[in-house]
Amino acid sequence: MTTGTPRPSEASSAYGESLADVYDSLYPATGPAIDSMVAFLHDLRPSPASLLELGVGTGRLAIPLAKHGYRVHGVDASPAMLAKLHENDTTGSVTTAVGDFGALAVEERYDLVLTALNTFFMLPTQEQQISCLRGIHDALADGGAAVFETYNPQVFHRLTETTTRIGHPAPDALLLDTVQVNRSLQSVLVVHTIVGAGELRKVPEVSRYAWPAEFDVMARLAGLRVTGRWADWDRSPVTDQSEKHVYVVERQSV
Ligand SMILES: C[S@@+](CC[C@H](N)C(=O)[O-])C[C@H]1O[C@@H](n2cnc3c(N)ncnc32)[C@H](O)[C@@H]1O
Repeated sequence: MTTGTPRPSEASSAYGESLADVYDSLYPATGPAIDSMVAFLHDLRPSPASLLELGVGTGRLAIPLAKHGYRVHGVDASPAMLAKLHENDTTGSVTTAVGDFGALAVEERYDLVLTALNTFFMLPTQEQQISCLRGIHDALADGGAAVFETYNPQVFHRLTETTTRIGHPAPDALLLDTVQVNRSLQSVLVVHTIVGAGELRKVPEVSRYAWPAEFDVMARLAGLRVTGRWADWDRSPVTDQSEKHVYVVERQSV
């Protein structure tokens, strides 16, 4: 159980609270990416390992991981996202707690700590990111590993102007993302505009990207070390063109 992790601020819960009802149509809970994520974690620490997911959301990953035998606990700032998770989790296999993973304090120790889908970058300052890594350090069992899935900062850092992307999350809905990058602050503001079923909703998402070398240093400051970095769950090598990074982090040996 999570103990001592503070109640989340309105800023950290806002994204989930505004998107919980449509999140599953934006990010479907099936497909080859989920299978390869499960296989990646299985190679690292096979089930029935214990696993803590930070920013667990509606259980898109946590529920398949529990089905594969992991003992999964999830933390999220948004009660609405967690309510959706428990609706989706028909066998009641995932336990959850509301909390801010930027100031994580857990009683249990976990074999794996997962922070997927750019969620680590949702912590808006370097200080909060280091604090999160310190919390992860303390949450890891002996021999445990933490895994991060982030976007490759290059993807946004190369954007010099406001950019728009269009998607179709459902047959009757349109998703319009407006992306603004502040390169000196390493911050990205994506405004998701969802048009559908007679409504128009705007959801801002702020992220702060860390370059790989900075991630290494932040991990070291938290008593951790990066032991692997890939471009995807299939362990393909990182290149400038990679869309994302998958990091494996373990405790520094004393
Ligand atoms: C992009 S979603 C990812 C959800 C899930 N991991 C997935 O892969 O589908 C990010 C999640 O992190 C949560 N979140 C963002 N900042 C947080 C914070 N500081 N503490 C706890 N949860 C946070 C949001 O509420 C949201 O559910």
